[in-house]
Amino acid sequence: MVTVTYIEPNGNEQQIDVPEGWSLMQAAMSNGVDGMEAECGGSCACATCHCYVDEAWAERVPAAAENELAMLDNVAAERRPTSRLSCQIKATAALEGIVLRLPVNQS
Ligand code: FES
Repeated sequence: MVTVTYIEPNGNEQQIDVPEGWSLMQAAMSNGVDGMEAECGGSCACATCHCYVDEAWAERVPAAAENELAMLDNVAAERRPTSRLSCQIKATAALEGIVLRLPVNQS
């Protein structure tokens, strides 16, 4: 299990133990985290699983592939340097303790 903290748009924090190999979107949806829509179910085709990776973790998350970068052009909320699609980030031991912030709107 990998402990992930999600900070919802209203500032609420949810700490979730995520099985390794799950995407950080999948874990958020399964646990009722507010601020995630994930309309495409994780196929990198909707950009409604946008999150901001806490800066302390940004370097440790594997780099985004080209299709993710292209989809990030379509996010509804402000795109920032730490913007990622949470369906494209897999829980691994290297990400133990990661913090994600959810934007105010996804679509
Ligand atoms: S769930 Fe659609 S792009 Fe991540």
